[in-house]
Amino acid sequence: MKSGPTDPRHSHGEIPRRTESGIDVNLDYIENPARRLSSHRLRRIVDDRSWITLVARISLDGRRATKTGDSGLMIGEEGRLRCLELREEHDAVLVGVGTILADDPDLSCRPEMTSTDDWRRIVLDSQLRTPSWTKVVRSQPENTLIVHTPAAAGFDKERLGNTGVALLEMPASPSGMVAIKPLLRRLSRDQIRSVLVEGGPTVLGSFADQYFIDEAIFFLSPHIFGGDSPSAVGGIGVSRLANACRLRFEVVRMVGADVEIRAIRPENSEEDNVQCVD
Ligand SMILES: NC(=O)c1ccc[n+]([C@@H]2O[C@H](COP(=O)([O-])OP(=O)(O)OC[C@H]3O[C@@H](n4cnc5c(N)ncnc54)[C@H](OP(=O)(O)O)[C@@H]3O)[C@@H](O)[C@H]2O)c1
Repeated sequence: MKSGPTDPRHSHGEIPRRTESGIDVNLDYIENPARRLSSHRLRRIVDDRSWITLVARISLDGRRATKTGDSGLMIGEEGRLRCLELREEHDAVLVGVGTILADDPDLSCRPEMTSTDDWRRIVLDSQLRTPSWTKVVRSQPENTLIVHTPAAAGFDKERLGNTGVALLEMPASPSGMVAIKPLLRRLSRDQIRSVLVEGGPTVLGSFADQYFIDEAIFFLSPHIFGGDSPSAVGGIGVSRLANACRLRFEVVRMVGADVEIRAIRPENSEEDNVQCVD
């Protein structure tokens, strides 16, 4: 393992190398897990919250699926394996109940991952709508944490509690969903230093609206969907360019037939001073 800077702030001077495919890659960033880990620790110490990485698989025109919701084989096998590796690089993967109901993902890591004892799958599910038959409940329930609000019914707490998953009650946001800011503080105090936010557009939008993004990793497939196919990030959005969450490109590289783009939020960005709604 190469030694390198321990904080993305120190990466300004690094010159990305150009690969044979002509793609610029910051190899130090990819090959240096120690550097990423220390960024995660730093976020915990400075902001009392977990490091947040948003990940999404999107078409060339920025859509997460066709207008009928079809997105199954959008990203090739290499990209799919990279997504599994990303889960292992984080302490938890997080989705909303919308993704659970639509896709029933198992949110697993690669079988060869040595220890998953401390690793968590987190589902934001205000009213505990997650069915008991879903993969996140049935397979390795001890790794699943379902976060709900006080609006969840007692019988659903009992139904899911009996399956072996952990339940966590958090305050509701003004929109009635799980309030993110107190959740991130709680996860950080429970030693979850980094969270891979892999949900659908509603969850990604909630994190973006509140500038809870330290890093974004988008896998771009060479499709164009057009029409009113849904975008990858929902939420309220911004009206002015100046208010957009601005990141800095760190890595761009081919992954099979797709492109992986990683961008990091510069430290001391103006959004650090923005008041969150939670
Ligand atoms: N292309 C990709 O990379 C990708 C990845 C994942 C999913 N998807 C697609 O996305 C679609 C599902 O979209 P979705 O937006 O419904 O899924 P989602 O964002 O995973 O889940 C949204 C739901 O999570 C719950 N939630 C609780 N607290 C929340 C909070 N603070 N912020 C946001 N949501 C919160 C809400 O339901 P309650 O109010 O009931 O709690 C909300 O409706 C599926 O078609 C799936 O295939 C695509």
